Amino acid sequence: MVRGIDFSPIDANVMADPYPYYEALRRGPSVTYLPDDDLWVVPGFADVWQIARTPESFSSKALRALGIGAISARTGTRPDIRELDARAPQSLIASDPPDHTHLRRLVSRPFTPRAIGTLTGEIRSIAEHVVGDLIAAGERGEADLVHQVAFPLPVLVIAAALGIPAEMRDDFKRWSNALVGRLDGQPLSQEATADLGEMITYFGQVVAERTANPGDDLISWIIDGSAASGEPLAPRDLVSFCTLLLIAGNETTTNLLGNAYNAFFQHPDQFESIRAGADLGPVVEEVLRYDSSIQGILRLANEDVTIGDVTVPRDAVVMILFGSANRDERRWPDGHRFDISREPLDHLGFGSGIHLCLGAHLARLETVTAIDVLRTRLAHIEPRSEPTRFASSILRGFTSMPVQVTPA
Ligand code: HEM
Repeated sequence: MVRGIDFSPIDANVMADPYPYYEALRRGPSVTYLPDDDLWVVPGFADVWQIARTPESFSSKALRALGIGAISARTGTRPDIRELDARAPQSLIASDPPDHTHLRRLVSRPFTPRAIGTLTGEIRSIAEHVVGDLIAAGERGEADLVHQVAFPLPVLVIAAALGIPAEMRDDFKRWSNALVGRLDGQPLSQEATADLGEMITYFGQVVAERTANPGDDLISWIIDGSAASGEPLAPRDLVSFCTLLLIAGNETTTNLLGNAYNAFFQHPDQFESIRAGADLGPVVEEVLRYDSSIQGILRLANEDVTIGDVTVPRDAVVMILFGSANRDERRWPDGHRFDISREPLDHLGFGSGIHLCLGAHLARLETVTAIDVLRTRLAHIEPRSEPTRFASSILRGFTSMPVQVTPA
């Protein structure tokens, strides 16, 4: 049995398969303090839900610690986060009300279900294109669901939505990788720092260009909405929002698709019913619950707060474990079972409260579309060899998933 106290989010075994560790944590107190990491981890659904919905007590400024590679006290020296705050550009995900309320209002419109719906045709044609690449790679014996489909799809979609030419796709990948390194709390390499600098310069140019000559794209809509609000965002905040879309949107959606096919391959009966035409909406929700792309996120306690039986002190860095909450047996009696026919219950795969994922509708549409195109275009798909998971304490997904495909 795994004892809760053995848990560390940066432990290699935990990152490979966190679920038995989470289960042990859930049998313990509401919050467990990890002295080596200087982190307070929260594993239960009700507590995670409550914390995500109480921004007055739990500040998202803690996410700035990720920016300087300090998720754990063992991966970097964590500076005074409140101090750091004053120097950073405004970032939606790492801000609190009232700044968050203002920022979120400025950027929300293009992400409503209706606005996202206008991208349906474009997403379908991008999905057709990448699945075509998968089939072509299959003819060479090189089909890989992550390389040809799950990775390029969200990059191409967000590039299209931002009005960025598809030729920049490789740059987007490089930047996105550098950002993910940062998100994972690893110290930044020199190369990654250079990539991030390049990205900020690029987005700076795009923001300046679109301010002068607005187009019909997400960046122009946001510049426009921000100008109309009477309190326009500074160019550096607009650049920060563009980078956030890459961080928050690409890797997570890639991982959702990879985690989906991993679950499908391990549950052939259910995969059969998916291929036979099962409604894909609930399927995607079940993947988000069962194997969440974002396993946990940080908050900073603004005051001494009691969660269940534990009091967390002011300035504590708290990690809310979405991946654990989504398997909590008090909410899902058989939470360890992947079941696409389960009664839908709100999960925390997209978070909750004021920071609820802005791109949730987009991510759902992309994933449902990709699975639908795959089941339409392929008569058969099966693993060719073991997939490769990457190690991360925040994100969960695959870097490679070799498959064998037979076109329909
Ligand atoms: C499967 C894919 C995705 C997953 C699992 C996911 C998950 C999440 C989660 C858990 C949060 C809450 C973070 C917190 O509470 O601190 C979040 C926030 C956010 N996500 Fe997503 N996300 C996904 C896709 C996307 C996409 C496609 C976009 C945009 C293109 C996006 C943009 C954002 C933004 C901007 C926020 C911050 C919202 C705020 O702070 O108000 N995400 N996401």
